[in-house]
Amino acid sequence: MPSSRPMRRNSWPRPADARHLRRLGIRFLKRWGIESPALEASLLLSHAAQRDRTFGFAAGRGDVLDPEAHRRYRELLRRRAQGVPLAYLLGRAEFYRFRVRVGPGVLIPRPETELLLEVALDLTKATPPSPEGGFRWGDAGTGSGILGIGLALSRPGDEVWLWDRDPRALSFAAANAWELGLARQVRLLKGGWWPAFPLRFTGVVANPPYLSLADWEKAAREVRQEPMGALVAGATGLEALEEVVKGAPPHLYPGGFLAVEIGAGQEKAVVGYLEAAGFEDVFYKRDGAGIPRVVAGRWPGG
Ligand SMILES: C[S@@+](CC[C@H](N)C(=O)[O-])C[C@H]1O[C@@H](n2cnc3c(N)ncnc32)[C@H](O)[C@@H]1O
Repeated sequence: MPSSRPMRRNSWPRPADARHLRRLGIRFLKRWGIESPALEASLLLSHAAQRDRTFGFAAGRGDVLDPEAHRRYRELLRRRAQGVPLAYLLGRAEFYRFRVRVGPGVLIPRPETELLLEVALDLTKATPPSPEGGFRWGDAGTGSGILGIGLALSRPGDEVWLWDRDPRALSFAAANAWELGLARQVRLLKGGWWPAFPLRFTGVVANPPYLSLADWEKAAREVRQEPMGALVAGATGLEALEEVVKGAPPHLYPGGFLAVEIGAGQEKAVVGYLEAAGFEDVFYKRDGAGIPRVVAGRWPGG
């Protein structure tokens, strides 16, 4: 562990030369065990300077930070060294082909979740419209809204519902949908895994919590700054997935699908839940690391 005095004031240049600050930031983050110190110091420098993302990478001779930006940079570095996730400090995260707002209280989108969106978009191609003639998609446990937003952006004519039990998550989802121009296309609900009224969907995606309590105890300090209720399902890690699958049939039109993200080693159990609930064409798909990551099936009706 580095010394308990992370930054010595007099080692910081005045006026604040941006190139030098970047070098100091890299050294500082490296000392605190941050894996990609150059990338992170550059992004934090851009953020502190309130400039676009390239500023920190390209900072050259003559680029300076005003005293307020300098103070923000030091504070950002200090919090990053304490384990606050980079995305929370930047207030933004990238997913698929768009960026969303994130912050304490909402799960930071993970790259592997893009597979769930891709599987869902693929399944929509062979999904019949509802008997009323339209398409209605659901994103259960929407968090920052990424999955429903991805569906809405990809299928502008369709209706998309996002819901979550956590009001903090929902407020991020609402802000993200609004900023991405989707205020008319998406609807938000506060509630549990399934709406309490008889609303049916042509397809539903869900990335429920799937860590066990034991996984949580071993999780990295950054992960433990995210909401436990977004990550931990219970003693086995399968509790939320089972609840989502069991509750799905009354909310799907015949021919509609359910696609869920799962944790490593959960595919057998989750395929079993879908088959036991009466889903057909049940399959799982592996992510880029070869780990079964998504399970999906079609609801035949009845
Ligand atoms: C793993 S996060 C996924 C967030 C987002 N869909 C994503 O992929 O980044 C799980 C989300 O489910 C929500 N959640 C947990 N239990 C829930 C429940 N019983 N009913 C509705 N939402 C729930 C959490 O608040 C959290 O936002």
